Amino acid sequence: MKILSGSSNVSLARAVAEGLNVELLKAKVSTFPDKENKVKLPKNTEDFLVFQSTGISPNRNYIELFFILDALPNTPKTVVMPYVGYSRQNESFTQGEAIPLRAIGKILKELGVVKLICVDLHKGEASSFFDFETVNISAVSVFADKITQMNLNVSEATLVAPDKGSFARVTELSKALGMPASFISKKRNYETEEIESMEISGEVRPTAILVDDIISTGGTALKAASLLKQKGASKVYFFATHGIFAGDASVRLEESIIDKVFITNSLEVPAKRKFNKLEILSISDLLVRALK
Ligand code: R5P
Repeated sequence: MKILSGSSNVSLARAVAEGLNVELLKAKVSTFPDKENKVKLPKNTEDFLVFQSTGISPNRNYIELFFILDALPNTPKTVVMPYVGYSRQNESFTQGEAIPLRAIGKILKELGVVKLICVDLHKGEASSFFDFETVNISAVSVFADKITQMNLNVSEATLVAPDKGSFARVTELSKALGMPASFISKKRNYETEEIESMEISGEVRPTAILVDDIISTGGTALKAASLLKQKGASKVYFFATHGIFAGDASVRLEESIIDKVFITNSLEVPAKRKFNKLEILSISDLLVRALK
């Protein structure tokens, strides 16, 4: 087996290839003046596992992936997609909305995908759109290891789910770390995408550790952190599997009341989106274990 990487997250693809002790090859991607992409594969295209994350520039990343899959021989294909772009658009939230995740599942199937390996898919159940084997790896153990290393006073700390989607994740961490968990109910307006309200149930201790799957605009992180400060937390940490940092999210998070933001390297964060309070944890060992 070899790994064939698209251009979205070559550093993670390389770490995984090293962990598996297999060769890493990269698809050559270029762009024509009219912005169309061209993809060229290395010579030997036998026995490849395709590696491509699809966030930060999801449209470009998907197009590249589709072209790579199309150029490979007509054999069953496995794709490692640490971040599945469009995973939050997994239903029609308002009348007439397309369901992009369903469309993506159909295209991948048509292009010969028989197995998809991803990390913290936004809604696990959404993999029902995928008519092929889907392995959804949880990054909870990476967060648990980091929180343990932080040597926090457990009797002063609470884990907090910033919305319903994180309840299960936070419950699992709470059991692993022996820390209590609190839960925020978040209401979003799907026309404006604004968060309308947040309410917390459960105890808030001086150290609050929020755990989510995605940071996009940072709106959820900022609103949840300010609610926790109002309720008496003095230190707030935010953990998320996937760091997109859309728009000015990095600046807003750096200037916020959040003490530190932890994400994984499921997406390759460009230098201009990095900030001092950010720490990136590696999921390469998780992927290596899943691929062995
Ligand atoms: C929402 O359901 C997700 O779990 C995240 O909370 C959300 O996508 C984060 O987005 P933003 O950073 O824009 O609030």
